[in-house]
Amino acid sequence: MSGVNNLFQNKTVLAPLAGITNLPFRLIARRFGCDMCFTEMISANGLIRESAKTIEYLKTCPEDQPLGIQLFGADPGVLAQAAVIVSDFHPAVIDINMGCPVKKVIKAGAGAVLMRDPALAGRIIKAVVDAVSVPVTVKIRSGWSQKSINAIEISKIAEDSGISAIIVHGRTVDQGFSGHVDWSVIARVKNAVKIPVIGNGDIRQPEDARKMRSETGCDAVMIGRGALGNPWIFQGIHQPLADVVEDYRPSLSQRMEIIKQHWEMEEYYLGKRIADKSFRKHLLWYTRGLTGSGRFRETVGKMTDSDAMLAELDRYFQVLAETQAKITT
Ligand SMILES: Cc1cc2nc3c(=O)[nH]c(=O)nc-3n(C[C@H](O)[C@H](O)[C@H](O)COP(=O)(O)O)c2cc1C
Repeated sequence: MSGVNNLFQNKTVLAPLAGITNLPFRLIARRFGCDMCFTEMISANGLIRESAKTIEYLKTCPEDQPLGIQLFGADPGVLAQAAVIVSDFHPAVIDINMGCPVKKVIKAGAGAVLMRDPALAGRIIKAVVDAVSVPVTVKIRSGWSQKSINAIEISKIAEDSGISAIIVHGRTVDQGFSGHVDWSVIARVKNAVKIPVIGNGDIRQPEDARKMRSETGCDAVMIGRGALGNPWIFQGIHQPLADVVEDYRPSLSQRMEIIKQHWEMEEYYLGKRIADKSFRKHLLWYTRGLTGSGRFRETVGKMTDSDAMLAELDRYFQVLAETQAKITT
């Protein structure tokens, strides 16, 4: 148990994001001080069928530690078997997804629908905990809807079933990913259990993370969308309050260097064909909010050729550098 406490006490954690938190993205987040990363959700059924595509999600490397591997599924036995399979990849924790609101997942009886069946949720957790020696965590929402907030009940069941830590995304399932996040649910879960609680939802600035910690007492903060095109947010969170005036964000040339390194890693780990397709979204995130980025983003949004995208990126950053030089001289 103390191992899990060390893993989460005052730590920053990258959230599982389907289609995004692959190995290259996790390595970039770690470079900026992210203490722990999660894989995207991986199908327990796919794993026990040895689906090549599913196995691909487990790609990791020695620097990619500590790592949480997240599983989703509906059946206690299948999830337990899948947990045994992923144990071989040396995760620091195995997480069970009980928060995904996507229709396909819900229809299969997995993800957030488990919040509606606390008894089954408890059986799943117990089956996974009993199957592996790796600590097991669970990621939940505040409840199905405002009328059925049950994160506290589920957390207590999870604790009784042997879970090592709880991740709480303070939105209801029917909110999807929009609307207001209720951090008070995170605080209530923290008061209700003795195991570490990781707070999640709407941390966009380092200041939000500090606020979440002080308002909820959570042990760790988990960041999802706030890290897109902004992996240095972890650095900003770790910066001592006294140094907050110092900008944690990179300069223009540093930003360019990071973008190119991230892109190279995508090519190295995923292959050029896949990286060419998958990196465009990162380009759009990395340039969000920069002066005149609307036009760049529109142009790149229509491109399919990676060399053309790279040339456009160089051109755009050149313009930005010249504008900056004009302002400072
Ligand atoms: C594109 C996208 C993919 C996501 N994929 C997963 C996932 O695979 N597993 C999971 O537990 N949550 C997933 N989530 C939810 C996030 O982990 C997180 O709980 C949510 O985005 C709230 O945190 P944020 O405001 O920091 O983004 C996903 C969210 C988004 C936007």
